[in-house]
Amino acid sequence: MASQPLFTTLPPTIEWRDGDLLLLDQTRLPHEIVVENIADVKAVWRAIRELRVRGAPAIGVAAAYGLCIAMRGSTALPVAQFRTELERHANWLETARPTAVNLSWAVRRMLRHARDVDASDAATLYEALVAEAKRIHEEDQALCEGIGEHGMPLIREGCGVLTHCNAGALATSGIGTATAPIYAAHRAGIAFKVYADETRPLLQGARLTAFELQQAGVDVTLIMDSAAASVMSQGLVDVVIVGTDRVAANGDFANKIGTLGLAIAAQYYGIPFYVACPSSTLDLRTPSGSGIEIEERDAEEVTHLAGRRIAPDAMKARNPAFDVTPHALVSGFVTERGIVHAPFERSLKTLFAAEGNAA
Ligand code: MRU
Repeated sequence: MASQPLFTTLPPTIEWRDGDLLLLDQTRLPHEIVVENIADVKAVWRAIRELRVRGAPAIGVAAAYGLCIAMRGSTALPVAQFRTELERHANWLETARPTAVNLSWAVRRMLRHARDVDASDAATLYEALVAEAKRIHEEDQALCEGIGEHGMPLIREGCGVLTHCNAGALATSGIGTATAPIYAAHRAGIAFKVYADETRPLLQGARLTAFELQQAGVDVTLIMDSAAASVMSQGLVDVVIVGTDRVAANGDFANKIGTLGLAIAAQYYGIPFYVACPSSTLDLRTPSGSGIEIEERDAEEVTHLAGRRIAPDAMKARNPAFDVTPHALVSGFVTERGIVHAPFERSLKTLFAAEGNAA
């Protein structure tokens, strides 16, 4: 199901146009709207690594098209060699970022498709890959709509919703994951407030979530990450909804650094804590959160702000991009098939055993 565009002022996050891959450069938002025509697979890897395209589902879609970009000049190869080349690019593209499982999910799905398609020449195989990438793209929109439908009842008239990082339209091909219930409730005419954490160090909350919610006419207030617990203590938050980069089989999940602290604070104040999770972000092969690799990014993202040093010279800094929240702090996962409650090990498996990332 294709969703209505949320913004008339913004180009799509990802677009496949006449054999070209166009990415909205998210590092330039909100002040500059720049669309990059991605030249080759190295540029796809860099765009993912440097967060020009970011957010777990968007990374998956970009990687699927990225493999098409990798192979578009190879349609004269013998089929077996085309498949070998594809696999080489796939293995490399997967190394762009480690935490969001959507990257390997999409890449593995493309490889499976290339293996299963009965093609006598590489040009036919290439067209089949493009068709599969388009399917991944369209399905992502539908996953967001499903999360919106099932998550909307969490948002009641007059309530306050807190979210972290950007699990919004910019992170997906549709209405986002954590933002899907927000957009659905907004469309339904429900009045409520959103508190968006700014999300140090790269400020996805301030630059992206606050921006897209404001553009869509949602009542949004930007807060510092360090203000979240205080805002909760004042009774302003009725529900927390965050996105995720990977959910392990037992319900432990990775999301942007700072999520764990929010979940602990929410539990202290008795605030329901929900995680919006499309099936493409489930990793039932990883038993628990201890098996999730956490991306450690350049310390300069912490010691510098907008290109300017804010810490003393030679200061050491740690920059884990994500943290893992234990399942005991989760009220439920909002999926495209409904809200999943504890015990998660059983409920996730029952609902999603047949999916690509299942054991
Ligand atoms: O480093 P980022 O900006 O890719 O991190 C994004 C997040 O942590 C999101 O919450 C997550 O990917 C879910 S996006 C629907």
